[in-house]
Amino acid sequence: MINNNPDTRPVNLNLLKIRQPITAITSIGHRISGVLLFLSIPFVIWMLEHSLQGPQGFADVTAWFDYGLIKLLALLMAWSAAHHFFAGIRFLLLDIEIGVDLATARSSAMVVNVLGVIGVLIAMVMIL
Ligand code: HEM
Repeated sequence: MINNNPDTRPVNLNLLKIRQPITAITSIGHRISGVLLFLSIPFVIWMLEHSLQGPQGFADVTAWFDYGLIKLLALLMAWSAAHHFFAGIRFLLLDIEIGVDLATARSSAMVVNVLGVIGVLIAMVMIL
C-alpha cells in the first residue's frame, strides 16, 4: 500500500546513500556538461580570436596548453563535448520513442558514458 502521509513516510535525503540508476547518472552528466559547455563559450571564443591574430597569437594559445591546469580543463571540456553530444542524440531518439524500453535505455546510457570517456582518451592523445 502507498503511504501518502508526509509525517510517517520514510525519507532519505542523503544523495551519497541513494544509488542512482545508470540512466540518471547519464542524465545528470548531460546537465553538468551542458552548463560547462555554456560557461566555456566566452573563453573558447577569446582563445579562437587570439589564435587568429597571427603566428604569434597562435603560438601563444598553443603555449597555454603546456600548463597542467589548462590541460585538465581541456580534458574536462572534451568530456563535456563528447558526453553532451552523444547524450543529446540519445535524448532526441528517446523523444521520438526509440529505445524507451528499460533494457535498451540502460544499454544506451552505458554506451553514452563510455563514448564520453573515449572522448577524453582521444583528447589525452592529442594534448598530453
Ligand atoms: C555549445 C553547445 C551546447 C551547449 C552550451 C548546450 C547546453 C545545454 C544545456 C545547458 C542544456 C540543459 C540541460 C538540462 O537542463 O538538463 C541542454 C540540453 C540539451 N542539449 Fe545541449 N548544449 C549544446 C550542444 C548540444 C548538442 C550538439 C546537442 C545534440 C547532439 C545537444 C542536445 C541537447 C538536448 C537534446 C537537450 C535536452 C535534454 C533533455 O531533454 O533534458 N546540445 N544543452
